[in-house]
Amino acid sequence: MRDEGPSRALLDWYDAHARAMPWRTGPAARKAGIRPDPYAVWLSEVMLQQTTVAAVRDYFHRFTARWPGVGALAAANDGDVMAEWAGLGYYARARNLLKCARVVVAEHGGRFPETRAALLNLPGIGPYTASAIAAIAFGEQATVVDGNVERVMARLFAVETPLPAAKPELTALAEGLTPPDRPGCHAQAVMDLGATICTPKSPACGICPLRAPCRARALGTQADLPRKLPK
Ligand code: ADE
Repeated sequence: MRDEGPSRALLDWYDAHARAMPWRTGPAARKAGIRPDPYAVWLSEVMLQQTTVAAVRDYFHRFTARWPGVGALAAANDGDVMAEWAGLGYYARARNLLKCARVVVAEHGGRFPETRAALLNLPGIGPYTASAIAAIAFGEQATVVDGNVERVMARLFAVETPLPAAKPELTALAEGLTPPDRPGCHAQAVMDLGATICTPKSPACGICPLRAPCRARALGTQADLPRKLPK
């Protein structure tokens, strides 16, 4: 049985405190279960792969102003896209972005496929990004696991296994928390929690929505988790 306590607390917290981001819908839409545009979700998740939210914001605005949908991007000139990407780094992402847009137009009628499994076949979309798009844009019960999520899970469940060996265990714990309703909000709630409250150093446990069930907090080990093998 999935323990619904933590996911309920996370969704309530997200409804009150979600960080505003240009690719997210607003609070009222979120609560009503209205999901954001798949193109916006895909574009933002590819940009966020190795880049911070703060750095991505302006790029996202410029891209969506110039190419408002996947069809427009697919028809774009390669050089123009590479020029707009300049400064974001990891340029393979930009080349795959264009490839992906063209495959979505040529093979999927200009609409993103709606399952994690189908998304995985597209250029530039790996397990992390496929889960993020499937959950956030299409409501699939897929689990997104990044460094923030691993840290939140290690603390919530007081996992003593060091990284990277702990990865499968932390992934399974994150999967166990993922709710069937609003899995995309849940995924982003865990990411926001890790970025703003359950931070690597000096986590703000006093205002954490998971302070009651958090095992590391009860044990006083939160600042030591996740453990890492010495390099
Ligand atoms: N990092 C990657 N994707 C994110 C998202 N959707 N929200 C917050 N942080 C993220």
